Amino acid sequence: MTAMNTLKRIFAVLLLAPALALAAGGDVKLDRAPINPDDQASLQRGARHFVNYCLNCHSANFMRYNRLRDIGLTDQQILDNLVFTGAKVGDLMKISMDPKESKEWFGAAPPELSLIARSRSSHAGSGADWLYTYLRGYYRDAERPTGWNNTVYPNVGMPHVLWELQGEQVLSERKVQGAGFEKSELVLKLEKPGNLTPVEYDQFVADLVNYLVFMSEPARARRETIGMFVLVALGLLFVLAYALKKEYWKDVH
Ligand code: HEC
Repeated sequence: MTAMNTLKRIFAVLLLAPALALAAGGDVKLDRAPINPDDQASLQRGARHFVNYCLNCHSANFMRYNRLRDIGLTDQQILDNLVFTGAKVGDLMKISMDPKESKEWFGAAPPELSLIARSRSSHAGSGADWLYTYLRGYYRDAERPTGWNNTVYPNVGMPHVLWELQGEQVLSERKVQGAGFEKSELVLKLEKPGNLTPVEYDQFVADLVNYLVFMSEPARARRETIGMFVLVALGLLFVLAYALKKEYWKDVH
């Protein structure tokens, strides 16, 4: 192969790569996450769920406990209800599990979660939608070492840590009939109910996702306020500058 041909090939691959990556993005439809970043009660419930169910394995290295003041909690409330590890209120949300050990147990190390809502956003939906669908997408699969599989994250290493709440789903085939065609599609079916009803479970996950989104950008509310101040200050400066210009030039003409 000549050097020219090789170059052409490299260019072709470079041009095609983004299209291929998009195609591999998956054909799973994401459910829209019903979250509201201004709902403090929901964020507080979500923080509690996160500490109780996720922080054992995942850390949130960019998140300090006292950042939870931003969702309306006092330092004492944070210490009493959310810190179980003997950490201080100004500490980062870290865990003590050794990443090497967790890799042995689950085949993969649990990633750090403070930026997860941002990293999972794609053309198929926001990071929140992905998380909302993921945490509701676990189903029984005897072929997996953990006994679980997931619709949006096939062959995931993480077990279904919320199964007592959600119950057990299975993947089952359903025939869909349309005008002149018949096809089958795979749907999730709740086989054994959990401690929560499906509606309650969806709400539980929504609160948790609301909190994960807050962690990705804890300063959002403050930044928006600062932005308004900056705009107003710029406006005032403009008026002042214009008045000055008029003053300086009024005798020139
Ligand atoms: C028993 C340990 C454990 C617990 C508890 C746990 N996870 Fe995981 N999690 C993992 C492991 C291991 C992975 C890596 C899976 C892989 O890469 O296959 C993972 C992966 C993830 C991912 C995918 C990250 C990515 O984009 O690759 C998300 C999101 C996630 N966990 C969220 C959560 C949430 C939310 C909770 C709390 C409800 C939670 N996890 C509780 C072990 C755990």
